[in-house]
Amino acid sequence: MSTVLPVHEDTSALDRVRALESEYLLQNYARYPLVLDRGKGCYVYDTSGKRYLDFITGIGVNALGHAHPRLVKLIREQAGRMLHSSNLYYHAYQGPLAERLAKASGLRRTFFCNSGTESMEGALKMARAHGHKIDSEKFEIVALHNSFHGRTLGALSITGQEKYRRDFEPLLPGARFVPPNDEIALEQVVNEHTAGIVIEWIQGEGGIFPMSIEYVRKARELADRYDALLVFDEIQCGVGRVGKHFAYQLSDPVVLPDVMVAAKPLACGIPLGVIVANDRAAQSIGSGMHGSTFGGGPLACRVALEFMDILDELLPHIDRMGCYFRAKLEELQKQFHFIREVRGHGLMVGVELAFPGKQLVLDAIEQGLLINCTHETVLRFLPPYIATEKEIDRAVSILKRLFKLAAKRDDVN
Ligand SMILES: Cc1ncc(COP(=O)(O)O)c(C=O)c1O
Repeated sequence: MSTVLPVHEDTSALDRVRALESEYLLQNYARYPLVLDRGKGCYVYDTSGKRYLDFITGIGVNALGHAHPRLVKLIREQAGRMLHSSNLYYHAYQGPLAERLAKASGLRRTFFCNSGTESMEGALKMARAHGHKIDSEKFEIVALHNSFHGRTLGALSITGQEKYRRDFEPLLPGARFVPPNDEIALEQVVNEHTAGIVIEWIQGEGGIFPMSIEYVRKARELADRYDALLVFDEIQCGVGRVGKHFAYQLSDPVVLPDVMVAAKPLACGIPLGVIVANDRAAQSIGSGMHGSTFGGGPLACRVALEFMDILDELLPHIDRMGCYFRAKLEELQKQFHFIREVRGHGLMVGVELAFPGKQLVLDAIEQGLLINCTHETVLRFLPPYIATEKEIDRAVSILKRLFKLAAKRDDVN
């Protein structure tokens, strides 16, 4: 018989959840001490009923916050109709969603899968197959130091952070790493053996580091010169997060990739990943060369279609709120010398501290604010797209309180 955990209980719920998980789960996660139970709008509630302002949104997934009425209605309706159909048959939603993605991205053909890392695997296969058609020695993938592309072996092979890779080596051959925003280094490594160049426009796990537009233009130029595929990883920075459909649309004129991968917010919590490619890249994958059992099911695609409708209206709001939030954080930077930098675009924001941020994240939880820390010293904020000045003011006032406390702690000064 399974052990069902009671909800709406006091802190002992945490102890029980922890005990059970420590006995039966792989011990790979270091979770924060919080058992979440439900959410509404920009807030989530733990099992004791305590409310938290959610400025991390399941690491950028819950773009419309929690229990958005339009999504709740649609999910209920679709659950009573059909959850899964496989890719043996057609259903009504993949085509329209692929059309939407084509219009929003400027690319043409979509493949549906279930997660970020899976979309990156598919993009790597595309680059490999593209190279293979030209020359059997054309299989190298150029990626950036400090990048993060996922946990499966292919995505891991091109993730530019040793700590994620080292336990699993040897990984895919042919990964070549270069420092971000260094055009000369890129020029030195890209050559006729390069099948693909993979770039996050804004490195997320790497500490919210944006690429310069000149750098990405150089990558485009080199990919064209050597007939390689330029792949943008928009898993964290894409699908509205920066106030554009995709982060590469921050450039003007737009630097288009050959392949773009996205996931996290696309179906607002129902797993869905995509590879969107131009015809040149898409033709490298022929019949039977790739597939997925779950990918692009009717529920996920329908939710994503509804989300894309809502997103069109939200984009200017995301941009405005992002400016407002960063301006408020820059005011805090003037008051606290240990804030080194405020970075980001739209509602993808990082605050680099002069010390490790883990304790501040725990203190924030205590104060009713969910954020996280990446790259050791960077507080990361991925608020829901529906956040307004009211929620931002609340988050900033909690942060101010925490920074005041941190300033008094010895280790900071
Ligand atoms: C830029 C980027 N790429 C890939 C991934 C992997 O996505 P997933 O965890 O859905 O496999 C992530 C996840 O954080 C990411 O931020």
